[in-house]
Parts: sequence; C-alpha cells; structure tokens
Amino acid sequence: MGDPRIVTVPDAAALAEAGADVVAATIAAAPAASVVVATGTTPMGLYEELAARRRSGLVDTDAITAIQLDEYLGLAPDDRRTLFGWMRRSFLHPLAIEGPRVLRLPLDGDLPAACAAFDRALEARGGIDLAILGLGTNGHLGFNEPPTERWAPTRAVTLTDATIRANARYWGKIADVPSRAVTIGLGPLLSARAILLVVSGAAKHAIVRAALEGPVGPEVPASFLRESGAEVTVVVDHAAWEGEEPT
Ligand code: PGA
Repeated sequence: MGDPRIVTVPDAAALAEAGADVVAATIAAAPAASVVVATGTTPMGLYEELAARRRSGLVDTDAITAIQLDEYLGLAPDDRRTLFGWMRRSFLHPLAIEGPRVLRLPLDGDLPAACAAFDRALEARGGIDLAILGLGTNGHLGFNEPPTERWAPTRAVTLTDATIRANARYWGKIADVPSRAVTIGLGPLLSARAILLVVSGAAKHAIVRAALEGPVGPEVPASFLRESGAEVTVVVDHAAWEGEEPT
C-alpha cells in the first residue's frame, strides 16, 4: 500500500491523454487485463483517446475483459438510460470488445445471492487488474454512496439525492434518474491491482481534496483509496485541484 500518485494536468484534454497513458501501460504489461469501466462524463475523453490509439495500432485491446461498474435498476434493456448502453457506445464498441470479454452485473432475480456470486466469480477469475473510476460530488466510487464501509460487497443500493441530481445532467431531468442501482462494492474495487481515478472541473474541488487530504472514512467513500492495496493513480485537472479555471 502506498499513497495515491496524484497527476495534475492543465485541462480535460490533458486528462484524457494522461488517463489513456495509465490504461495503455496496464494493457501493455497485461494484455488480457480485466478492466472495470466507469461511465460518467469524466472518462469519455480518455476512452476516445484509447480508441484513437487503437486505430493507430498503439494499443491492443483485443484480449482485455471489460467489467461493468454499475447500473440502474428497473430499466428495460433497451432503455436509453442504461449505463450498459453508455458503456457499449463509449468503450466496448470503439474498442471492439464483445462476447465473453464483457462481464455484466446481475440486475434481477435474487440480487443479494447474484451479487455475491458476481464477487466470487470476479475473484475466481483473478480479480480486477485496473478499475477506471470517476468521483461523485458526494465522494462515491461507482454507486458506493456515503456512508459506505471499505469492505462493502457488490450489491443493490438506493441512490442519494446528490447522485440523482448529478445524474440528471445525463438524462434530462431529476425524474428521469432511477432511484435504485447495482454497484461493484468498495471491497472488490479496493482489491484491484491498480485504480485510476479521473477528476475534472471546479465542482469536484472540495470533494477531491476531502478524499485525498481529509479524514479517511465511510462519509467519503473515495477516501478509502488511501488505504487500499492497489496502485492508485489520480489524474486531476487544474480546475478540480485548485478550484478555479486556469488563468
Ligand atoms: P461524472 O460522474 O464523471 O459525470 O462527473 C462521476 C461519478 O459520479 O462517479
């Protein structure tokens, strides 16, 4: 366990480059890496950069497995708001990852049993090589909403008002955001070999500082990154780190 490596970059474009460097290095070292893939706005530039590098032959994603980080509950599979659909458009399709190289979260049946089976399967296949994560304004990782204990398993959760408000910007309005979800637990995430957290924009200033410099505890789930066994890299742009746009 070491302190997170903090990489500050001037802007979102540089964040995409620096983030893609971390993912590319993981894949170069472990071509069949298991990679947890966040949706959200922050990693989108990183995924576009990865796809561009793949087209140029600089990154080979042919053997990686992509693991879904979280998903809303209660949506039809073809609903425009599914996070799996977003993952497919932004990551799986551009990187040509399909079939058994995609690991999805359980969404129905006996969810506690299915989520426990998911965690066991994750462990049995060797765990997570790299988790690509964004940071919620409330300090969540995935949908591990505050308060979340560091050993929390993969499970169904109720989204907090802060997350529902934040997610409204993806789908139009607050009423469009489902209130329940499934998330990979903080426990399995923190057991990853490497974690890449990407943070962008002044609205994340207070929470990124709280996560990296404030008390470690369940009220800021991302603070547990400082107690994980993973090699943690935080790529944060100037606006998020300093709380202001560059002058
Ligand atoms: P964002 O979401 O990248 O859209 O800001 C981050 C998150 O909620 O994890």
